[in-house]
Amino acid sequence: MSKKRVAVVPGDGIGKEVIPAALKVVEATGAPVDFTTFDWSADRYLKDGTTIPADGFNMLARDFDAIFVGALGDPRVPTNIHAKEILLGMRFKMDLYANVRPVKLLDETLCPLKGVKPEHVDFVVIRENTEGPYVDAGGVLKQGTPDEIATQEDFNTRKGVERVIRFAFELARKQGRKKVLMSDKSNVMTFAGGLWQRVFKIVAAEYPEIQTQHMYVDALCMHMARDPKQFDVIVTNNMFGDIITDLAAALQGGLGMAASGNIHPGKTSMFEPVHGSAPPFAGKNIANPIGAISTAAMMLEHLGFAQESERINKAVLAAVQQKKTTSDIGGTLGTKEAAEWIVGAVR
Ligand SMILES: NC(=O)c1ccc[n+]([C@@H]2O[C@H](COP(=O)([O-])OP(=O)(O)OC[C@H]3O[C@@H](n4cnc5c(N)ncnc54)[C@H](O)[C@@H]3O)[C@@H](O)[C@H]2O)c1
Repeated sequence: MSKKRVAVVPGDGIGKEVIPAALKVVEATGAPVDFTTFDWSADRYLKDGTTIPADGFNMLARDFDAIFVGALGDPRVPTNIHAKEILLGMRFKMDLYANVRPVKLLDETLCPLKGVKPEHVDFVVIRENTEGPYVDAGGVLKQGTPDEIATQEDFNTRKGVERVIRFAFELARKQGRKKVLMSDKSNVMTFAGGLWQRVFKIVAAEYPEIQTQHMYVDALCMHMARDPKQFDVIVTNNMFGDIITDLAAALQGGLGMAASGNIHPGKTSMFEPVHGSAPPFAGKNIANPIGAISTAAMMLEHLGFAQESERINKAVLAAVQQKKTTSDIGGTLGTKEAAEWIVGAVR
């Protein structure tokens, strides 16, 4: 297979530690991938005002097969403008409409719930990634007065809802999963929820072998904490997806363990660990690199290197089971040492 080109943006804080660690693991697999690193970050923004260069998104789409991002966010940039322009820019301007969040418990000791075993937590959340209240539409009137009015508009398009729901069914079919659950709040948010309900039924009819279910998002949170084994594929909107994926991360051992992909089939897609830049952890060699390493495995699979991806997943599982990990999940190793152990296991 021809060499794939990956743009790497370590970003801020612990992103600068977990991404180089994950790249070493990818290199150990021998997958034919070329990395080009970009310094888009708070440091760069504070130096010359650049968030992402003018032609940045076109360049990424034109010259790269995938993008691998660490985390963006730094207390020295209180507006978070660089993070917004780089991260949300990639998601929105490159139209990466499906945020894919595998939720898999690797070891019983990592789950905060009593008696929950790895076979009980194995599902995927598909979060709509380009619409909802995150499109930045709205405004403020009479700011700072007792009569202040703030609006934040929730955008749901037929096209956007349909393609993400179809993505969820396609993923279920590809992965041999049996059920797609759509979650919304259509009992009170009737206009947007109505569209999701109608489109879900229409698209589901094309996949008769896959069961369907609907759950209001508040009930979903309760069930996720009480009985996570009932879930298989969950599809939901941007905001509810944002919230439930953090809850789901807790089931698998915390933010340091969670991987994600921002995908538009056929276009250059972006892969990032779910966690942020964790400023208090930055530069201390304590951040868990597994979220980033599992994200790299997901990216390799997406690029067509399924065997290399599987080797990484097996090495990560061994690290967790043998406690060759950072302290957040019970080990004693630093970021670099935990990644080195996984490099050894991959080799
Ligand atoms: N996708 C992103 O780049 C992204 C996502 C979330 C937050 N952020 C930004 O990151 C900054 C910090 O945000 P936050 O503190 O709310 O979230 P965060 O994910 O950075 O950290 C929250 C907590 O989770 C734990 N944690 C996160 N990653 C970990 C890891 N790899 N290993 C061990 N523990 C880990 C730590 O206890 C940490 O204090 C903010 O600027 C925020 O805007 C960026």
